[in-house]
Amino acid sequence: MLEKPRVFVTRKVDEAAIALLETVAAVEVWLDYKAPSKVEMLSKAQDVDAILANTEDRIDEDVLAVSNGRLKVVANMAVGFDNLDVITATRLGIAMSNTPGVLTKTTAELGFALMMAVSRQIVTGDRDVRDGKWQHWHPSAYLGVDLAGSTLSVIGMGKIGFEFAKRAKAFEMRVLYHNRSPRKDIGEGFEYCEKLETALEQADFLCITTPLTKETHHFIGKAQLSLMKPAAILINIARGAVVDNIALFEALKEGRIAGAGLDVTEPEPIPADHPLLTLANVVITPHIGSASQRTRRDMAVLAAQNIKARLSGEPMPSCVNPEAMTRKTQREKGEEFASHALDAELDEEV
Ligand code: DGY
Repeated sequence: MLEKPRVFVTRKVDEAAIALLETVAAVEVWLDYKAPSKVEMLSKAQDVDAILANTEDRIDEDVLAVSNGRLKVVANMAVGFDNLDVITATRLGIAMSNTPGVLTKTTAELGFALMMAVSRQIVTGDRDVRDGKWQHWHPSAYLGVDLAGSTLSVIGMGKIGFEFAKRAKAFEMRVLYHNRSPRKDIGEGFEYCEKLETALEQADFLCITTPLTKETHHFIGKAQLSLMKPAAILINIARGAVVDNIALFEALKEGRIAGAGLDVTEPEPIPADHPLLTLANVVITPHIGSASQRTRRDMAVLAAQNIKARLSGEPMPSCVNPEAMTRKTQREKGEEFASHALDAELDEEV
């Protein structure tokens, strides 16, 4: 009897996803809250056909190669996939997938929450109330910035950027965006800035939603921050490394920009002694853009659907390297070789 395919799930996820995987495979779930170490990951990946990975797991060449051709698919439970070595996977015929769509609105909502928290000093105010520091209502205390009438620049007008921009419109903001090319499918009211500089100079609020790639690493650094208004507020809901956080710290400290709301940092978690944590005008959340109950379930299920499809030889819903499918895994090549050899033997017999 053929052995069932094996799947390693690198963190406890919604039962619906596990149940789906169990229809086609034997499933092992990593139950520690802490991510598997590199050594643990290598040991688990040795003997599996699929991995359901998370954003903190580095699926590099070592992990991809350790199964010696058995691994067929890695499904990332995130829309971003900068933690996956897609180039090596494609070369080895290993399919990879992400979870677009299901987390778009949830992530945009978190970005909006950060924008409002920073612009209206919500976290500082809460802290002061708890610490008994708030003693008097005063006309000039805790003054913030109105969103209505302000200009927002979105950097990276993908799905999440667009959802963020739509919400900003509803709050009566002027919306600019910088993207590789103008988007023709988003209707009126969103102004394209071909030049990043224009988007930076005009922004009262800057929201970063561009994926992390080689090109966007430290995309916003000292030079870019120096173009922004002193009253501007930066929001990052993409990946920490899109912003040079040391340059950001200096710009905030010197009052060259007014505040920041970061759901992502470089590194993660941000060390407790990081200079950014000394600033009152910064709100940092622990990478919770997609962290709603419904969305995390939908992400896990979409990741499981990708694995199930690949293991069943069906089209994957959100494969990021379809070219991998035209390449056979080393094991598939081996099996094919064996079956040709068998055919040859049979030919000889008849
Ligand atoms: C994503 O989906 O990329 C989120 O940042 C969660 O990792």
